[in-house]
Amino acid sequence: MQAVLQESWWIRDGEIPTRVVLAPMAGVSVQAFRRQGRRHGAGLVCSEMVSCAGIEHRNERTLGYLRVSSDEHPLAIQIFGSEPLAMAEAARMVEAAGADVVDINFGCPVRKVTKTGAGAHLLEHPDLACTIAEAVANAVSIPLSVKMRRGVEDGSRACLELGPRLVDSGAATLTLHPRSAKQMYTGYADHTLTAELVELVDVPIVASGDVTSRARAEAVLAATGASAVMVGRGAQGNPWALREIVYGETEQPSREEVAAELIHFIRETVRELGERRGSSFLKKFYGWYLGHGRFPKPFKNELVQLDSTEEVVLRLLAAAPGAADLLAELEADVPGDEVLLEGMPISLYGGG
Ligand SMILES: Cc1cc2nc3c(=O)[nH]c(=O)nc-3n(C[C@H](O)[C@H](O)[C@H](O)COP(=O)(O)O)c2cc1C
Repeated sequence: MQAVLQESWWIRDGEIPTRVVLAPMAGVSVQAFRRQGRRHGAGLVCSEMVSCAGIEHRNERTLGYLRVSSDEHPLAIQIFGSEPLAMAEAARMVEAAGADVVDINFGCPVRKVTKTGAGAHLLEHPDLACTIAEAVANAVSIPLSVKMRRGVEDGSRACLELGPRLVDSGAATLTLHPRSAKQMYTGYADHTLTAELVELVDVPIVASGDVTSRARAEAVLAATGASAVMVGRGAQGNPWALREIVYGETEQPSREEVAAELIHFIRETVRELGERRGSSFLKKFYGWYLGHGRFPKPFKNELVQLDSTEEVVLRLLAAAPGAADLLAELEADVPGDEVLLEGMPISLYGGG
């Protein structure tokens, strides 16, 4: 029977309230992005990949990725690395930080990561991949999920050999992005492999790749038997896409709603990363939010040129004055409790 997008599913005994997972995306999935994703209907959100070496060496910026807020749950924190013991230690930190799921990245195709023996490299080293999965699963009491690509080379079916072995090693759920590492983001995600993986294991499978609409999400669930879909690029600067996919809400946001959501996102991100790091991080989001015919193109170009995020906020409020009231509502709902790692004050991370 086909899964219903707005209904719950389970990872071990943890309830995930909808069948849409917000993808881990390096350089995108900050806490503000994850909170926003939950607010707009994602049942599970995920941090970007966090280096287990960075955790091991208590790198300040890396530890900043482990900040969890009460309105993010359920939340997965994703780690990458190639050494079982270091990965197990990182997983313990992830659990201590308050994550509901620890996710391992066996899909990253970027050379900076694969040359260290991590990410998609491990798809071609299944014994080590399973040793890592087992070490992580045994180190924590929260469930382990693993995210994979189909394999390294085009046409590879490595994920179908590795998937069942990862489950035997302790993975409680698997996510498949069925492109090869070589493909990067070209071509398309071949979800016939997702359907094959679903047949091979008895844990929930999450289908990742090219899901940008409710129609597509339903088609992927129907064709694969997956328990949930993951949405990545489709949700960049477009949380309303999540509403459409999860609830079938097709109404486009007004300019005021877009401006309020973007200003809220800017303020949250600056609080998290500091003004200097935040303002360059945010530039790519302006085009993502203001596109889709929502604002004229020159307006986006103007925002990117501004020196401070406060100037961006003032321009947005001038362009959509009604956004102020909506913004006040969004800000009233934010809990102020995001620091859960003991002894690590927020000031340690801000401005890094
Ligand atoms: C900018 C960007 C960063 C990404 N970073 C990660 C990451 O840190 N970990 C990961 O497992 N996948 C990462 N991915 C892959 C996505 O999670 C997802 O599997 C992929 O984008 C396909 O889904 P989509 O078509 O919905 O975007 C990234 C993708 C993008 C576009």
